[in-house]
Amino acid sequence: MEQRITETLKILTEADKEACEIVKVSENEPAPLNKKRLFIESYGCQMNFSDSEIVASVMRNAGFATTSSEDEADLIFLNTCAIRDNAEQKVRNRLQHLNALKKKRPGMLIGVLGCMAERLKAKFLEEEKMVDIVTGPDAYRDLPRLVEEAETGQKGVNVFLSREETYADISPIRLNSNGVTAFISIMRGCDNMCSFCVVPYTRGRERSRDAHSIIKEALDLFRDGYREVTLLGQNVDSYKWTSADGTEHVNFAQLLEQVALVSPDLRVRFSTSHPKDITDEVLYTMKKYDNICNYIHLPAQSGNSRILQLMNRTYDREWYIQKIDRIRAILGDDCGISHDMISGFCSETEEEHQDTLTLMEYARYDYGYMFAYSERPGTPAAKKLVDDVPEDIKKRRLSEIIALQQKLSLERNQRAVGKVHKVLVEGTSKRSNEQLQGRNDQNKVVVFSKENFRKGDYAYVLVTECTAATLIGHAVELATV
Ligand code: SAH
Ligand code: SF4
Ligand code: F3S
Repeated sequence: MEQRITETLKILTEADKEACEIVKVSENEPAPLNKKRLFIESYGCQMNFSDSEIVASVMRNAGFATTSSEDEADLIFLNTCAIRDNAEQKVRNRLQHLNALKKKRPGMLIGVLGCMAERLKAKFLEEEKMVDIVTGPDAYRDLPRLVEEAETGQKGVNVFLSREETYADISPIRLNSNGVTAFISIMRGCDNMCSFCVVPYTRGRERSRDAHSIIKEALDLFRDGYREVTLLGQNVDSYKWTSADGTEHVNFAQLLEQVALVSPDLRVRFSTSHPKDITDEVLYTMKKYDNICNYIHLPAQSGNSRILQLMNRTYDREWYIQKIDRIRAILGDDCGISHDMISGFCSETEEEHQDTLTLMEYARYDYGYMFAYSERPGTPAAKKLVDDVPEDIKKRRLSEIIALQQKLSLERNQRAVGKVHKVLVEGTSKRSNEQLQGRNDQNKVVVFSKENFRKGDYAYVLVTECTAATLIGHAVELATV
């Protein structure tokens, strides 16, 4: 199998020389006058942002050009998230604002896409009267038809969840791109049933995308000047693709290797890893290839085994600790590790919260995404458990988790001071035009003096100082490294 994938790679590289057409469109596409304008706004996770690029491609074929201005849009899509109540609240507030806009411009259509659309389905049309189109994450191919219907005054809903759809054949249109880093969706849906999580209901069953189409997308991106790809899935370690004729089987470690082989100058990242599924094979593949970044996002959700069981995460504290130990043993202490953590899950006691803090100390995380538990209707936790930790306690525990992460991030960043890091330049620093910004292997943001470097270059940067969020330094000649 591996050989066949490598062959595909060679064939594609040959085809490349014959100048395959690659569409690269900015957010503000110069459109002929007869083209209609589409404005897309994305909420939620990277997968949603990646989906918006598929939607832009589908709509382009239906005659729409993208715009970065809602004021000139004929069609507005909100690609929504349902993960926590406040994510949905943001969308409702946004819809109120758009309602005012629509009153001024009655011909304009509004579509709600993504996870909140899937969760609420046709109810959306009753709740938010000005919404014209409701489309779930697996129905984006149907958008041109739904828009056409809406143009004749009918409301259009398609929230069908598929077992097969991966949009493998659609070339995404890169939106808001820095031209250097891009996301590639390698799978969709999720078969885990974490009791707090709405994703299995909004994104359906897990399915893996054709490996060849993933490698081709990585190759196209590299050819187009991109220097980093992030392979995306809710649980990338369970990626598993079998060809229609049953002769090829590709697991995540093998896919990772094949994407790494596209070019040593193409950095490869991936997200999200599930502690129950990440294998030594993946860790050794990371070790084998310099261009697979030394960084793992390994959500824990809690440091207490009883809570992990209630969450149905299928591992306990000891298992998680063993995974951290394996990562450090195979990839070394410098491997960047980040986490997701939830405070105040159903029945969590003060001691159990302390277990989360001690796990964080043990793992010495570089970074974290931290949330207060938000009950989601229809999830196993909402049906079977009581959301009984008072809001103020959830918030206080969350602030303790965040404060500890700040301390750990600073400590981990301090270890990077005095060392030279290979940085992929992503653009000008937000702080100053005289400085550039990029990331090192461990996904840490590095800011350094501009000199003659440009976006997409690799720079060797001596880090001289840091904050909890950023490494700061100046470029050095490779010979002095
Ligand atoms: N597939 C990824 C996570 C996807 S959702 C994984 O398994 O790790 C991103 C994060 O949102 C989760 O890791 C979790 O920390 C958080 N989250 C999900 N549901 C939540 C809820 N109901 N309340 C608070 N945070 C939640
Ligand atoms: Fe949600 Fe769990 Fe699936 Fe992640 S693995 S998307 S937290 S159900
Ligand atoms: Fe949100 Fe859906 Fe992603 S619920 S976090 S946009 S998978």
